[in-house]
Amino acid sequence: MARVVITGGSGFIGSHLAEHLVSRGDEVTVFDAAPLPPDLACPVRLVGGDIRDERAVGRAIGERTELVYHLSAVVGVDRYLGAPADVVETNLLGTLNVLRLARTAGAKVVLASTSEVYGYNPLTPGTRTVTGCSAARRWTAGRTRRARHSPST
Ligand SMILES: NC(=O)c1ccc[n+]([C@@H]2O[C@H](COP(=O)([O-])OP(=O)(O)OC[C@H]3O[C@@H](n4cnc5c(N)ncnc54)[C@H](O)[C@@H]3O)[C@@H](O)[C@H]2O)c1
Repeated sequence: MARVVITGGSGFIGSHLAEHLVSRGDEVTVFDAAPLPPDLACPVRLVGGDIRDERAVGRAIGERTELVYHLSAVVGVDRYLGAPADVVETNLLGTLNVLRLARTAGAKVVLASTSEVYGYNPLTPGTRTVTGCSAARRWTAGRTRRARHSPST
């Protein structure tokens, strides 16, 4: 049995992970800004709050925590494009908060990356060696590069 915290545990992957971990006997705390899904089929402790708020996250990740699955993130291409500052704040500051608190607790961290790292990858199985086209706005380096050369864009 392990004492586990899942940030983003109300979300798609996190809620299914919670069910799996509880079924094998782990004690699970979910940290999320959203409520638990109503059909969650296992008992967990919910700590509500914003991942950008270190004190709030500290109510979930404490000295008893052994393992953290960090899954809270701004997810979805529309949201990446519509509110890029939110993505940076939530995904970077949130991750920093989790890493700091986990280090203090001596807990291990499993960090979810994003499938965006695969870009338009025609290869199966996927590999990160082929990324999205850097000229496409979705992979925003291209947007920055164009803006530098053409102030009108
Ligand atoms: N679903 C996939 O196919 C897939 C593939 C590769 C990687 N991932 C990664 O796995 C992780 C989880 O993905 P998911 O599909 O479960 O996403 P999801 O959107 O279902 O879950 C994310 C959770 O994070 C929470 N959250 C967002 N902002 C927050 C904030 N500021 N404070 C607290 N909680 C906040 C949301 O409420 C939500 O419950 C993400 O990092 C995602 O990029 C997902």
